[in-house]
This record gives sequence, structure tokens and C-alpha cells, in this order.
Amino acid sequence: MRLIIQNNYQELSKWTANYIARKIQLANPTEEKPFLLGLPTGSSPLGVYRELINLNQEGLVSFKHVITFNMDEYVGIPKDHPQSYHTFMWENFLSHIDIQPENVNILNGNPADLKEECARYEQKMKDLGGIDLFLGGIGPDGHIAFNEPGSSLASRTRDKELNYDTIVANSRFFNNDVNQVPKLALTVGVATILDAKEVVIIVNGLGKARALKHAVEEGVNHMWTISALQLHPRGMIVCDEHATYEL
Ligand code: GLP
Repeated sequence: MRLIIQNNYQELSKWTANYIARKIQLANPTEEKPFLLGLPTGSSPLGVYRELINLNQEGLVSFKHVITFNMDEYVGIPKDHPQSYHTFMWENFLSHIDIQPENVNILNGNPADLKEECARYEQKMKDLGGIDLFLGGIGPDGHIAFNEPGSSLASRTRDKELNYDTIVANSRFFNNDVNQVPKLALTVGVATILDAKEVVIIVNGLGKARALKHAVEEGVNHMWTISALQLHPRGMIVCDEHATYEL
């Protein structure tokens, strides 16, 4: 696993955005051979999204032949809810770049059948040739996407009950009221992420220092699902100085 340490959040964001843009350029995607990009929500990737928007608007990278797949979505709030991951993605990234709307994939948090929706999503990634690069963040407890501590490292896209820590952490987006935070989500599995040809995880801030230690210095452990990145031949963590506090 590669660990890239940047001085601060701004440099981390710039470095990661440039890396992703370069990967897309090198792949030279076309309609027949698109580039599949896995994407996260959360505050960590916001800087990367801002930088990618700049690169796109300066004409330095195009998303015309990029197909995106988001990691997760809440169950039980409408798609257009201000805190749905669907809304988050369009507001913070997708509506500012030259992506074709039909190339955007986000799990439907209100399907007739949860299992069917998850199987459909998983199958679509496969049918299109697999994810080229999965970008992700982590929670303070080392969860990746919504693969909470204790998730199987062989897990696939599925519904997952959120644990209390995650509900509390995410309540900041729901008027600081835990009762308003959905208790269930759909998420790609750990194995889904590991299937990607390359995985890039952003870790910033002191609050993630313990998780980073588990990710790089401890063994592979389903209680810290980010540690599964150690199993990936092209896994990379890009972090800031603050996050390295416990290394
Ligand atoms: C949620 C998301 C994760 C994200 C995490 C951390 O749990 N499902 O994908 O990594 O939040 O978010 P933040 O970057 O805001 O700390």
C-alpha cells in the first residue's frame, strides 16, 4: 500500500485531484471504452471535487466519457432530500463538470426491493468492465463507504444498519438531531471496493489519526474495514500531517 503524506488538506486535495485527472487522461476514455470512477460523499472529498471542477473548467480534464458509481446512499429519505447523497453529489460536483447525466450511477435509497437494487448496481459495474479507480474517505472508526466495524471483508453491495457512532457523526448534517439521521443505508461492500483496479483513500484531520494507524500499522481486521486496503495490489492512502499523529 502506498501512503502519500501531504502538508495540509489543501495540498492533499490538489495532489489527489491531479492524480485522478492524470489517470483519466492516460486512459483516454471513449464512448466504447469509458473510464469508471467510484466516488464518495462526506466532507473529506470536497477539496478534491473543487480541484477537479477547476481542472475540468480549465479544459485540463474531461468527464465526457467517465461513468461514475457512488459508494452509498441513505435508505428512506427522498432522492431530493437536502442530505441525500444524490443531492450532495449533484450540488458539490456533478452539476459543475461536463459529465453526461446518464453516466451517473447512485444507489436508489427507495427501491421496491433493496436486495434487487443492490444486485443490479453490483452487476452494472461488472457489465461495464469494472471500476478503474475507486476514490473513498473513511469514518473515525475506520469504516469505508458504510461498511461499519464488523462488516465482512468479503461483503458486496447491500443494505447496512448504521452504528450509533456513525449516526452521531452524521447528525451534524441533520440539525444535530440523531432522530433525523436515517438508520439504514445501501453501500458497496468491502469486496466491491477491492475489485476496483485501483483504490485511493483520502484521510485528513486528527479525528482520523487512530483509523489511519489501524489502516497502515495494524493487521487486516474487519473491525477497521479500511485495513482491507492492505490486500489490494494498487491501494493508496493520501493523508495530511494531522492524520499521521498516531503513526
Ligand atoms: C460517511 C460516508 C463515508 C465517509 C464518512 C466520513 O459515513 N458513508 O463514505 O467516508 O462519512 O465522512 P467525512 O469525510 O465527512 O469525515
